Amino acid sequence: MKTLIAYFSAETGRTRKAAQAIAKLTGGELFEIKPQEEYTPSDLNWKNPLARCNKEKMGKKDVPVAEKVEDFDSYDTVCLGFPIWYWSAPNVVNTFCKDYDWTGKKVYVFATSGGSNIGKTAEKLMPYVEGAEIVHAEVLKNTEGLKEWVKKIV
Ligand SMILES: Cc1cc2nc3c(=O)[nH]c(=O)nc-3n(C[C@H](O)[C@H](O)[C@H](O)COP(=O)(O)O)c2cc1C
Repeated sequence: MKTLIAYFSAETGRTRKAAQAIAKLTGGELFEIKPQEEYTPSDLNWKNPLARCNKEKMGKKDVPVAEKVEDFDSYDTVCLGFPIWYWSAPNVVNTFCKDYDWTGKKVYVFATSGGSNIGKTAEKLMPYVEGAEIVHAEVLKNTEGLKEWVKKIV
């Protein structure tokens, strides 16, 4: 089994920390999903209707990604991590996913949030990972939760 841990983290670094812990526990390769244009704190101020995050969400915009995963086809398992934005994956994660052939891959979603649960996040992601099986998706709340989540990877 060859595992990729692809994650996006922008606000507090919480998702990055989770991804790093998962990499240690699984021995997988880490890849950070970075937008071509990095987010500033004011871009992330969802309380401002004109903030970048709201414009991207409302406009269902693609958010171009800075770098590609090398040899994506060689991974059979992908751990995909992101913060919950508006009860879903951030648009940059959808844009990232669109670039690859997901056929036959097993996908394990881990998210962090300000309180939301996973809800329909996995279902909303499915059109972007066509051909993959999303085996498990969860919001990780603490270290114990993370360890239990890792145990689900087979
Ligand atoms: C634009 C935006 C939208 C968000 N939407 C939600 C949400 O719907 N539910 C929630 O619980 N938290 C929401 N959050 C909070 C983040 O999910 C939370 O702070 C996350 O752990 C940040 O991870 P990061 O520091 O790795 O980017 C949102 C944050 C931002 C910036």
